[in-house]
Amino acid sequence: MRIRTFEEYQQAYAYSVEDPEGFWGEIAQNFQWRKPWTKTLQWHFDEPNVQWYIGGKLNITENCLDRHLADKGDQPAIIWEPNDPSEPAVTLTYKMLHDQVCRFANVLKRNGVVKGDRVCIYMPMVPELAVAVLACARVGAVHSVVFGGFSAQSIADRINDAQCNVVVTSDGAMRGNKSIPMKDTVDDALIGCPSVKRVIVLTHTRTGVSMIKGRDVWWETEMKQVTADCPAEEMDAEDMLFILYTSGSTGKPKGVVHTCGGYMVYTAYTFLNVFQYEPGYVHFCTADIGWITGHSYIVYGPLANGATSLMFEGIPTWPDAGRFWDIVDKHKVDILYTAPTAIRSLMGFGLDYVKGHDLSSLKVLGSVGEPINAEAWHWYDDNIGKNRCPIVDTWWQTENGGILISPLAGITKTKPTYATLPLPGVQPVLVDENGAVIEGNGVSGNLCIKFPWPSIIRTTYGDHERCRQTYFSTYPGMYFTGDGCLRDEDGYYRITGRVDDVLNVSGHRIGTAEVENAINMHTGVVESAVVGYPHDIKGQGIYAYVITESDPAHEADLMRRDILATVSRIIGPIAKPDKIQFVNGLPKTRSGKIMRRILRKIAEGDTSNLGDTSTLLDPGVVEDIKAGALVDV
Ligand code: WT7
Repeated sequence: MRIRTFEEYQQAYAYSVEDPEGFWGEIAQNFQWRKPWTKTLQWHFDEPNVQWYIGGKLNITENCLDRHLADKGDQPAIIWEPNDPSEPAVTLTYKMLHDQVCRFANVLKRNGVVKGDRVCIYMPMVPELAVAVLACARVGAVHSVVFGGFSAQSIADRINDAQCNVVVTSDGAMRGNKSIPMKDTVDDALIGCPSVKRVIVLTHTRTGVSMIKGRDVWWETEMKQVTADCPAEEMDAEDMLFILYTSGSTGKPKGVVHTCGGYMVYTAYTFLNVFQYEPGYVHFCTADIGWITGHSYIVYGPLANGATSLMFEGIPTWPDAGRFWDIVDKHKVDILYTAPTAIRSLMGFGLDYVKGHDLSSLKVLGSVGEPINAEAWHWYDDNIGKNRCPIVDTWWQTENGGILISPLAGITKTKPTYATLPLPGVQPVLVDENGAVIEGNGVSGNLCIKFPWPSIIRTTYGDHERCRQTYFSTYPGMYFTGDGCLRDEDGYYRITGRVDDVLNVSGHRIGTAEVENAINMHTGVVESAVVGYPHDIKGQGIYAYVITESDPAHEADLMRRDILATVSRIIGPIAKPDKIQFVNGLPKTRSGKIMRRILRKIAEGDTSNLGDTSTLLDPGVVEDIKAGALVDV
């Protein structure tokens, strides 16, 4: 599986394009299959119907756990660093993790979970979260992890969409000096979730929680009732492994579906090669398991390689802005994989928090989630990597399962702000507005992928047509990423950001339509339009233009605060607008379409050239909006 030189990368790439089935068939030999596949790939992007390793049988947890027991049983699988640095870190060896996963798998079974059931997991970043995820995979249940920052309403929407019958949660979560309720939020969510028959509650923060008789049970009590003997369920390569909800440009979040075989092969292959993992390395991915980065590069990718994965419960700025560097030194971290927003935020605290740290254990730095600006790239390179650690700027999406465009650490020559080259098996193309493929170098366009890789999205849960429409209909015969991209003279790719109405706020994906729907639920709001604007730390900030029934002039600040409370309640605090401008009208075309281009420009503070406004129903509203724009001076 391992690529060690640039020549080997080029050979692997060429082979993967000439003979994808041969290439991915060979890679998949490195895993444990109960039964071999009979055909490596079958695909039609127009339906879409993509199947990898057809007829192959496996259980991903046998690959992540059981097969390492003989030679790596006593090596650390997960190192857990708690929120509070004065509390002890926890190490789970492969044997211990296997034991815990088997026990919790038996707990799931005891509580009625059978293969194919959907289980919602809403937990803090504790080892039990990884245990719960793997236990679902062990019994063949489909996990749907919901990020701990989402509201009760968002949890309920996701539970109902997937018809989950069990929820795994915790009393609460610790983030910095704050204790955040989780079971309470789940209780609120479950008022509207008749499918849920059982809630399993982990004791973590020891805050008081309600426990409903007949529905709620304690994790610890349940774990005492079971043995550690739990043979893994035999899964088809194309059986669902998990659902993970993500925002799009319209309506409610989509349940992205990944399946067992292809996802396992691709995350393991990319983990090994992108980060150039060596046995004994400690891999620290700072994402939350509630996002795809955590699924693929905290849990499945590392464990499938028998690696050591570090999980951190807390936040980068508590007790102070040196926490990441404390952790790196404390656990001798070799690979650090984080987001540009975290780098920019820590940059803002100054180098005093980096000073006094050794950081000499670091070998590879990673970036993910949003474009990394040159300043942040160099700060990371100079002050954290000390100019001796390659930076891998990894581009990919929830729908991709694993990294698609990225340097291989120490192998691919890097260039700040460039994700560089496609990984083996990935065939990117740039297309223009009309769908024509743009050939050659020194060009830019919309980024599509023209051939399937093993962990491509299979469907959106419960709505296959939505999957087709969103990803496979804009440019027929291709997967459309929603990102703009340029390919420079060297053939290097640089992702320039979303070309649809999806925002990327601190690496979190948020649909403008979702935020608008939440704002519109606020009493007195008539209509709203949400756009992104450049934000020094978050990458993008959220700018909302809001029309209210009556002039909010006197109580504008109160109204703003209340709107924020409504958005927090409906989606979660991560979707709260940074700026709310009250307006009397929105720039609409005669057909009623909001011209977001104009709103974006005003939010950016660039009102000099708003382009063609002649198609507007009432060009006067633009002057009003400009006059009241909330732009920093
Ligand atoms: C969107 C996907 C799976 C990664 C975590 C976010 C943006 C992601 C990069 C990068 C520029 C990036 C894209 C993409 N993005 N990585 N290295 N450079 N942009 O996953 O929530 O599914 O968001 O994040 O715009 O479409 P996600």
